[in-house]
Parts: sequence; structure tokens; C-alpha cells
Amino acid sequence: MRILVTGSAGFVGAHTCQALQAIDGFHVVGIDNYNSYYDPALKRARIEALCQGSTQLELDITDSEALQTLMAEEQPDAVVHLAAQAGVRHSFLQPMDYASSNLYGQVSLLEAVRNTKSVKRLMYASSSSVYSGMDTVPFHEGMLLKTPKSLYAASKIADEVLSDTYSSMYAIDMVGLRFFTVYGPWGRPDMAYWTFADAILNNRPIRLFNHGNVRRDFTYIDDIVTTIVHLVEDVQDAAPEIKQHRVYNIGNHKPEPVGGMIEILETLLNKKAEVQLADLPPGDMVETFADVSRLQNDYGFSPDTSLQTGLERFVTWFQDWRSRAQPEDPSRTPELASGVEK
Ligand SMILES: NC(=O)c1ccc[n+]([C@@H]2O[C@H](COP(=O)([O-])OP(=O)(O)OC[C@H]3O[C@@H](n4cnc5c(N)ncnc54)[C@H](O)[C@@H]3O)[C@@H](O)[C@H]2O)c1
Repeated sequence: MRILVTGSAGFVGAHTCQALQAIDGFHVVGIDNYNSYYDPALKRARIEALCQGSTQLELDITDSEALQTLMAEEQPDAVVHLAAQAGVRHSFLQPMDYASSNLYGQVSLLEAVRNTKSVKRLMYASSSSVYSGMDTVPFHEGMLLKTPKSLYAASKIADEVLSDTYSSMYAIDMVGLRFFTVYGPWGRPDMAYWTFADAILNNRPIRLFNHGNVRRDFTYIDDIVTTIVHLVEDVQDAAPEIKQHRVYNIGNHKPEPVGGMIEILETLLNKKAEVQLADLPPGDMVETFADVSRLQNDYGFSPDTSLQTGLERFVTWFQDWRSRAQPEDPSRTPELASGVEK
């Protein structure tokens, strides 16, 4: 089975390539544009550490012609589309990055998929941010989504609508994956678990938004990857006549106070954090909480790694990474640690 993974040098992408490439008879082709939203050296290091054996290419999904040519050559059976401009707060600063990668890029990808007849299923990343306009938890897939609070969230809802339309117009099986705050080794330097750990180790203050009243459904990377692997393996067994669009929440279904995460990090790093309370920034959600009954019913599985276990693994990796990283590495020196990104 041949699988195309977009955003393969990203946090979720590199782990996904590693897991899929390890399955007998699977070959992964990964593409990424190695943009500088955060240090591309981290992206290249992930490829080096996690993606041995797979084919990795530098390609921008907005280059529709190049993407089309690659898909025609590779004839993948399945596509796992993870390339996107991530981050809620960055969408207030650089909105066109979202228009380009998440909107134009999504259509470019959908066009390439529909023109490549070998593709039996497209799986693509959505986000818990699609629920940012909702005021009741837990979030379930059947909810009618209200106006989202950021361009990032809007772009993910748009991706779902575009995919639904393509699935119905061209009879292609598609699955949208609503990830809930993913964390773990080889993670993202813009996300809270990373910036908080870095701030604690460097004696910098941490800003805790909404004066500490923020809860996240933190989901460990291996649980995300296990879900993707289930969905890719299922492509082989799926009845060929089933060509539909579905979305799944992929979350730990256990919201945790962000202050609790700081306490776990303090214990693991054996150092106290200096916490500054702050208002909730525009676009941020007070709580995320995934109802995972759909995933559980269809695949008999849902994420369950505890925050304690997941953070232990992250901190072990992080300390090793810091000891190897160059001092001028910008991913190590954010100005002020804050918040929870997606
Ligand atoms: N990590 C999370 O907590 C989380 C939560 C919800 C949703 N998501 C979504 O999951 C996906 C993966 O997220 P991640 O955390 O691995 O982020 P990431 O930024 O680490 O990975 C995304 C990768 O896509 C690449 N990319 C961006 N634009 C591209 C383009 N135009 N062409 C080719 N490559 C491009 C980037 O270089 C990057 O390596 C994204 O779609 C993100 O929006 C992530």
C-alpha cells in the first residue's frame, strides 16, 4: 500500500510517517514545504530521527501542478493530509498564511486527489477549534457549528465543507480528523507544553490565560497516530461502494486545567514556575472536551494516555533535545511563554 503524507516534517506528520512506514507492505511518500513558522531545523531533525525508510520530498501543496504530477507518478492508495498553517494566535497576525495553505492548499489537494484515481481514502486534519463558537461541552460531531472565533478555526471549518463537497461531487471516501491539543516528543515549539517547559527551565514567567480558568483535552501524539493507522489500515478492508465524508473527534475526552499541566511540569523539571495571570486572548477557547463515542463505536478505540504519562515522555525527550540544540536556535527562546495553541 502506498500512502502520501502531507506536512510530513511537522509534529503529527513525522510521527505518522514513522508509524505507517513500519507496517509491512506499506510505503510512505512525505511532502512538506519546510516553512519557517517555527525553526525548519526541527522539521529536518524530525525527518532524520523518525522518517527513515520513507521517501521525503520538499513540495508546497499550493503548487497544484507539481502536486498533481507527484500524485500521478506515485499513484497512492491513501492520502493523509496534515499540511496546514497551524496556530490560533498567528492567524490574527498573518491571515494570508491561512488563506494560502489551508484554503488554496486544501482545494489544490482535493483537485489532485480527485484526478488520481488510485486514491481510495483521503484523511485530513481538522481541529477542535471548529467548536470555538460553541458554549456547551462535550463537543460532538453532530453539533451544528456556530461562528468560529478565529480565522484558523474558520479555515478548518471551510476545509471540512470543501472536503464534504468534493466527496459528494466525485464519490471519494474522506475522513476529517478533529484533533484536540496534541502534545508529545518532537512537538511544536509554539504550543503551551513546550513554551511552559522552556520558560520554567530558563527562569522566564509563564502567562496563564483567563486567570487560570482554562481547560484543555490534551491528547498524546501516539493516540493520534494510532487513530490514523486504524483509518489507513481500514482502507484495505473498506467496501469499495462506501464513498462518504465523515468527521471524528480525536481527543482524550478528559479536560484538564492548564494550571494542572504546569504543576506536572514543575514536578518533572524539579523547578517552580513563575506564573502571571492574564486575560483570555481573542480566538482562544475556555474549554475543549471531545465526545469520542463515534470513534469508539466505529473503531473500538479512543485516546487514553494520561497527561502525567504523556508529559513524562515529552520532558524526557525535551531535555535531551535542549542538550543537543544550538544556543541560537530560535525555537528555544520564545519571548514569553503563554497560552495553548492548536
Ligand atoms: N498539534 C495540534 O495540537 C493540532 C490540533 C488540531 C489540529 N491540528 C492540525 O493537524 C495538522 C498537523 O499539525 P502539527 O501540529 O503537526 O503542525 P506542524 O506545523 O508541526 O505541521 C504542519 C506541517 O505542514 C507544513 N506545511 C504548512 N504549509 C504547507 C504547504 N503550503 N505545503 C506543504 N507543507 C506545508 C509545515 O512546514 C509543517 O511541517 C495541521 O493541519 C494542524 O492544523 C494540530
